[in-house]
Amino acid sequence: MSKRYTITAALPYTNGPIHIGHLAGVYVPADIYARFKRLTDNDVLFICGSDEHGVPITIKAKKEGITPQDVVDKYHAIIKTSFEDFGITFDNYSRTSAQIHHETASEFFKTLYDKHEFVEEVTEQLYDEEANQFLADRFVTGTCPKCGHEEAYGDQCENCGSSLSATELINPKSAITGNVPTLKETKHWFLPLNKHENFLREWILEGHKKDWKPNVYGQVKSWIDDGLRPRAVTRDLDWGIPVPVPGGEGKVLYVWFDAPIGYISATKEWANREGKDWTPYWKDKDTKLLHFIGKDNIVFHCIIFPSMLKAEGSYILPDNVPANEFLNLEGKKLSTSKNWAVWLPEYLEDFPGQQDVLRYVLTANAPESKDNDFTWKDFQARNNNELVAIFGNFINRVVVLTNKYYNGVVPKASEFSAVDEETLAAVRAYPDVIASSIERYRFREASQELMNLARLGNKYLADEEPWKLVKTDEARTKTIMYVALQIASALATLSEPFLPFTSEKLKRILDITGATWRAVKTQDELIESGHQIGKGELLFSKIEDKTIQAQLNKLEASKKANEAANATVEPQKDTITFEDFTKLDIRVGKILEAEKMPKTKKLLVLKVDTGIDTRTIVSGIAESFTPEEVIGKQVTVLVNLAPRALRGVESEGMILMTETPEGKLVFVNPDQAVKNGLQIS
Ligand code: MF3
Ligand code: ZN
Repeated sequence: MSKRYTITAALPYTNGPIHIGHLAGVYVPADIYARFKRLTDNDVLFICGSDEHGVPITIKAKKEGITPQDVVDKYHAIIKTSFEDFGITFDNYSRTSAQIHHETASEFFKTLYDKHEFVEEVTEQLYDEEANQFLADRFVTGTCPKCGHEEAYGDQCENCGSSLSATELINPKSAITGNVPTLKETKHWFLPLNKHENFLREWILEGHKKDWKPNVYGQVKSWIDDGLRPRAVTRDLDWGIPVPVPGGEGKVLYVWFDAPIGYISATKEWANREGKDWTPYWKDKDTKLLHFIGKDNIVFHCIIFPSMLKAEGSYILPDNVPANEFLNLEGKKLSTSKNWAVWLPEYLEDFPGQQDVLRYVLTANAPESKDNDFTWKDFQARNNNELVAIFGNFINRVVVLTNKYYNGVVPKASEFSAVDEETLAAVRAYPDVIASSIERYRFREASQELMNLARLGNKYLADEEPWKLVKTDEARTKTIMYVALQIASALATLSEPFLPFTSEKLKRILDITGATWRAVKTQDELIESGHQIGKGELLFSKIEDKTIQAQLNKLEASKKANEAANATVEPQKDTITFEDFTKLDIRVGKILEAEKMPKTKKLLVLKVDTGIDTRTIVSGIAESFTPEEVIGKQVTVLVNLAPRALRGVESEGMILMTETPEGKLVFVNPDQAVKNGLQIS
């Protein structure tokens, strides 16, 4: 039965291009779902756009000496084009700096304000005196009160995933000046989530226990069980949508308040363009609203946005929020700021015409129920062993043989054997098998079923061997090729959600551009005797080791460049004279004994042979070395440093050290063994 679907994909932040983590987590599954729903004759609206407000964009603009608008203009264009080139079929890709969005979000806020759905409160917030600015969200870092991570942000800890408010951070530090913030009073509007607890419990915890993914349900439950509190939905910033109520001057809507409303504005923009009515897509109870997101967005889409929609009163709520976990790259967390990523625009440039390979690999290996790893080796293996060796190989045989034996005309089948009947029945079952996986948001499984259909085709040909029979049994050969052509046509049609470029090419080769999902089920009008197919073309090609190595080298280079960019070099100190230098008595010494200073984390107590004597030196290296590791090492010692007591132990000298990019201390020592006591000059 045909239904109306409003499918949203998380609006990407416009502070960088799209990478494979975004694609695997959100955009590829959302696009598969949207394409599938269209193919099965539903009324589908697939919506996305750029999320252009928020502190990270302001910070990036400051760093680059341009305006926030420049930043979002640049990335909006890059993101939009790369989605199009990658075959993501949004019906509208909008942006939150669009006027229609400012109006829609503003109006939404006003409605909640007029309905007294906010709590207005003056609280003390972190303030940077030097920058003259309140420090919300990413403008402040500090230690996470939940897990102790030292670089948590004012809105979220990326280590444990907790959502925070800036005043909860321990040892907060301004991201603008590095200063310790002060507290200053300011007025804000809060959405009292506590007021919506009963509704949320009933709607999600009771109503969606069975159909929401366990990772999503679990996160929501722990949030609600933790106790819901009012959340501030305004900020003291100048980049964003102005707060449209009295007392809102100089304040803007919190980015997470305005961004999800972007789904609604994008719908309106689309409807205006198409001359349609936007309201059924958001207000008709029969519409299914689905949010495709990554796991860091769960609370916003399952708790906060639904509470906003509920408070407003006239909107439908999401039917499901199929959030994915994270994708890692070669064993490490993807990171925009650390440039550890495979960027979509670069992929499109390095692998022209091979969108489907990435779509397939990201789907076959999607982080659906746990975090997963993308490796270039796996990418190569999936292409060579599955797309080329199974799918491509089957199609190639069918097309080549049909052209060779019958000049490309689909032959007439005579009597079907039991194997033929079974094979055709199996093919007819595939649309429902694949649909059932997609309906349950199991895209990996669905993509593997598609590959199984290609396997079925390969096995059928290998077992029936038409290339042998063609010499002896013309009628049987025709039947076999007829069956094989049915499988090839089914593949052309069913692959569309997953491999849209391949599907299109294959439909063109077989000249069945009108074939539908339903035709595979009924098997009439899929591909018939007498139909003329075209010439073969390669669907996939083998990816060589050197291509993969080039990508690995590129990653390695970007890692190095990033480390170098982050390694800050201290400026040179004041000039000294040669006499100043000669005052330092620096010698080669050897560590004879080492033990941990009790009750400290950093200190080792060393006995060092300086060539002059054996003396005690207390050194702050215990976080980089165990005592056993340093015994017997030759090191550089400043021997005439005035002695001083550390934790009651007299230290007579200093071991000279430096540091690796990862922050591990390392010794500075002669590059071959020399006599202890030799001077360094
Ligand atoms: N920009 C957010 C992110 O990338 C997602 C916003 S989704 C929306 O994490 F609902 F707010 F639009
Ligand atoms: Zn934390």
